Amino acid sequence: MTPMHLTLRQIEVFNAVARLQNYTRAAEELHMSQPAVSMQIRQLEESVGLPLFEKIGKKFNLTHAGKHMYSYGRNMADLLEEADEVFEAIKGVERGALSISVATTASHFATRLLAEFSKQRSGITISLDITNREALRRQLERNERDLVIMGQPPERMEVTAEPFMENPLVMIAPADHPLAIEKNIPLKRFEDEHFVVRETGSGTRSAIQRFFDLHGVPFHTGIEMSSNEAIKQAVEAGLGLGIVSIHTLELELETGRLVILDVEDFPIMRHWHIVQRTGKRLSPVAIAFKQFVLEEAEQFIRLPNK
Ligand code: PGA
Repeated sequence: MTPMHLTLRQIEVFNAVARLQNYTRAAEELHMSQPAVSMQIRQLEESVGLPLFEKIGKKFNLTHAGKHMYSYGRNMADLLEEADEVFEAIKGVERGALSISVATTASHFATRLLAEFSKQRSGITISLDITNREALRRQLERNERDLVIMGQPPERMEVTAEPFMENPLVMIAPADHPLAIEKNIPLKRFEDEHFVVRETGSGTRSAIQRFFDLHGVPFHTGIEMSSNEAIKQAVEAGLGLGIVSIHTLELELETGRLVILDVEDFPIMRHWHIVQRTGKRLSPVAIAFKQFVLEEAEQFIRLPNK
């Protein structure tokens, strides 16, 4: 059996005539002349080998075959529309713009994650903002970014947050610190310590404060710094002990410049979340990035024992 030779144009014209039951109105809708509409229908009827319309008075009714054709015709139009949506979505993923904000502490792995994501999609443009928890909270409030990567999602705000990876906070000391060789050091031993800490507004800092409060041990802050890099350097230089996310320590642990102290109830176990305002309509590229984070983030952590 040889397949029917019909064109998508014929189907489009046929669908319009069948719906409107009128050649003139179909011609207007399609911006065609009426003879051109009649010709398309005639050619379609020739391909099918059956009449598709019958004229009763001034009205064009579908024949039995015409009703079948109309059902197929609508299915074909739906399929074409569906295909179009799929291709538009693919174009969006490959060409869209993505605006992401990440917590200072997450920047260590997030930049690698973004680099890999954009390598696979050379047409996209990315804007990455690295800032502390308090600033992230404000950005979410103003709905300024597509997605935010942070520790604790903000309370008292309608957000959708999905955890994707553990975020252990550990206590760090210079390699030659006397406590470096001790095991299971009681937390109370640090009640007089003045820690090198992040600025107020940092998620790490508030998590540490909560942890000490929970254990009933006073937490004293010494020098305050707005970057994890600065904290590590200060600790290495002997300015005090620090508590940071293990994800900021890759290089220092590898080279042995800093050590993690074995403290009772440590690490302070937290999780990274990918967060958006509830109800926000994400672009195709943002949806793809979120999926990428949820599935692949763990691979971008490089700790010496991994
Ligand atoms: P921070 O964020 O860099 O503000 O400490 C980490 C977090 O949100 O836990």
